Amino acid sequence: MTERQVTTVSFGYTPRPIQAFLHQTKRQRKIRFMVAVCHRRFGKTRYALGEIATDGFECPHHNPQYAYIAPTYGQAERVAWTYLKEMFKDYPGVEKNEAKLRLTIPRYDRGDKITIWLLGAENPDSIRGIYLDGVVLDEYAQCDPSIWGQVVRPALSDRKGWAIFIGTPKGTNNFYTMYQTAQLNMTKHPELKWYAFNAPASRTGIIDADELKAAKAEMSEEEYAQEFECSFSAALVGSYYGKYLTEIEEKGYIGDFPYDPSYPVYTYWDLGVSDSTAIWFVQMIGEVYKVIDYYEMSGMGLEHYYDVLKARGYTYADHWLPHDVSVQEFSTGNTRAKTFHKLFGRVPRIMKKTKVEDGINAVRMILKKCRFNRIPTQRGLDALRNYERKWDAKNNIFQEKPLHNWTSHGSDAFRGFAMSVKLSDTVKVKTLPRDAIIDYNHWR
Ligand SMILES: Nc1ncnc2c1ncn2[C@@H]1O[C@H](COP(=O)(O)OP(=O)(O)O)[C@@H](O)[C@H]1O
Ligand SMILES: [Mg+2]
Repeated sequence: MTERQVTTVSFGYTPRPIQAFLHQTKRQRKIRFMVAVCHRRFGKTRYALGEIATDGFECPHHNPQYAYIAPTYGQAERVAWTYLKEMFKDYPGVEKNEAKLRLTIPRYDRGDKITIWLLGAENPDSIRGIYLDGVVLDEYAQCDPSIWGQVVRPALSDRKGWAIFIGTPKGTNNFYTMYQTAQLNMTKHPELKWYAFNAPASRTGIIDADELKAAKAEMSEEEYAQEFECSFSAALVGSYYGKYLTEIEEKGYIGDFPYDPSYPVYTYWDLGVSDSTAIWFVQMIGEVYKVIDYYEMSGMGLEHYYDVLKARGYTYADHWLPHDVSVQEFSTGNTRAKTFHKLFGRVPRIMKKTKVEDGINAVRMILKKCRFNRIPTQRGLDALRNYERKWDAKNNIFQEKPLHNWTSHGSDAFRGFAMSVKLSDTVKVKTLPRDAIIDYNHWR
């Protein structure tokens, strides 16, 4: 495809030169996976939708399908849905499904149609199990990272679809890892068709100098470096544990720390009803808390977690559940603690109800004593790393309370762990006496 064709897409979107460059690069180099790190107001969302629309008309497959994914459904609706409808407002025969944020566009020359879904990464269920020819993950640094492996990547397999990860940095989180992967594959494995792109505001010229100067005056140096100069090294602004995790990572406390069968395992839970459930698995060895494993799932009953714990094959000491499990449930007349007792054959320990700030402080204190088994706890570590204060956009400040999102479950469970250890009489079992293994091993 020639440059002229790319830059004159005829559906109400004329790419800026730098957007046109990205459209063109993707075509000329047949890029399948692109990671684009761009400053605020670069034009990421417009570019992303422009790419989906352009590809829709070029796609050789029958009935091409695409997904645009924002961190939340609300974000997808507020910005992208408006842009998308505007792009196709003069195109005949477009069907809009406002409730599902889905657009269907007829391809008259081929007699089929393009379908575009707009979704939030917190609830991607509508694309589970379908095929996609292309997907954009917008503001990927803010997205729940599990969406890629669990939902999006499998959907691309049928038709060898493409993916674009686009966003502004947010510390060394999932977006950073993806950017590194793109850089590495671009040089080492060109056949995999990855492409890494980086566009700081000082180079694009999209935002004029006066405006940048004004932004600089209003923001901290770190914020500016992150938001406009695309710096991944700015310590996570607003993050509760980012700094502490970086510290322990530098000390080598996140690495290969597997299960040691001569010690029992304590579990710490955040038990969701309609939300996710998160479980940390910890061994206490002398003064060290060895965090060997993590599990998170949603929409499952306690039986599921029983099976998960059993399948791990660990020898367990106590299971610690959040304080609200001792509340009577309306539907069953039972408490969840009782249901747990029946199923697991033992009484759970109940975490005390404490102030969130106290819990956060307890986590900061305890992290220095932890050793994380990197691979099995990766999802939990992602949650801790991205756990952050709620941003108050009206007053341009962070509030003193956490943002509720995908990071909450793992972070709440870990807070419960830090507090329980601090407040309780948790016995530190040095090693398991041989015969004690039977006592601890309560699986039927
Ligand atoms: N190709 C374009 N032509 C005209 N305006 C554009 C174009 N791309 C982006 N914009 C405008 O620039 C602003 C930022 O675009 P947006 O895609 O929302 O950026 P980002 O997602 O990077 O914050 C919006 O006002 C948008 O309408
Ligand atoms: Mg945007």
